Amino acid sequence: MANLNLGRTSFGDPAHTNQVLSEAEALALLNDWVPNERLRLHMLQVGAVMKAWALEKEGMPASEAHKWWLAGVLHDADWEKYPDQHCKRIIEELENRQVDPTIIRTIACHGPRHFGVEPETTMEKMIYVFDELSGFIHAAALIRPTQYEGMDVKSVLKKLKTPSFAAQVNREEIQDALSRIDFTLEEIIGFILKFQTGVRTPV
Ligand SMILES: [Fe+2]
Ligand SMILES: [Fe+2]
Repeated sequence: MANLNLGRTSFGDPAHTNQVLSEAEALALLNDWVPNERLRLHMLQVGAVMKAWALEKEGMPASEAHKWWLAGVLHDADWEKYPDQHCKRIIEELENRQVDPTIIRTIACHGPRHFGVEPETTMEKMIYVFDELSGFIHAAALIRPTQYEGMDVKSVLKKLKTPSFAAQVNREEIQDALSRIDFTLEEIIGFILKFQTGVRTPV
């Protein structure tokens, strides 16, 4: 696997604070850069969960929650077309577009072991927590006849303890992410289940 270490820990320009992409601009970027619908859905799911966390748990205003949504929705934007430059490409794109530095740094924090950037803020810690778990929960939902309907925390925990299920999902990384926040695995799974259930890719 390519070395994805970004070699820096500072991103964007503080002078661009509060400059964001609109929802339509973010979705257009997603459609341009990510032909794979399943990957687009993953990013929209992480975006929905990030936004819900900002609103429900952090009590943030809609303008701040939008930044959380953008970080989630764009975090893997370059993964399909530029796997060897994952994270680097989308970071540079957002820097060129003069996007708020907190959004860019949050994207850079979604995999500290790969990108070499340690999450510091709550927003940065939460994208790391949600990324793998959200994908894992979606994989678990897809194999159920009723998908998300009736799916509970217990069934996700059971799947996590089954190493052969979604083996590519790194359980150690999930534990590492959780060790940085004051919420339990059960609470996070419950939150993700609640807020990513209804997410669909726009047609
Ligand atoms: Fe990623
Ligand atoms: Fe991801």
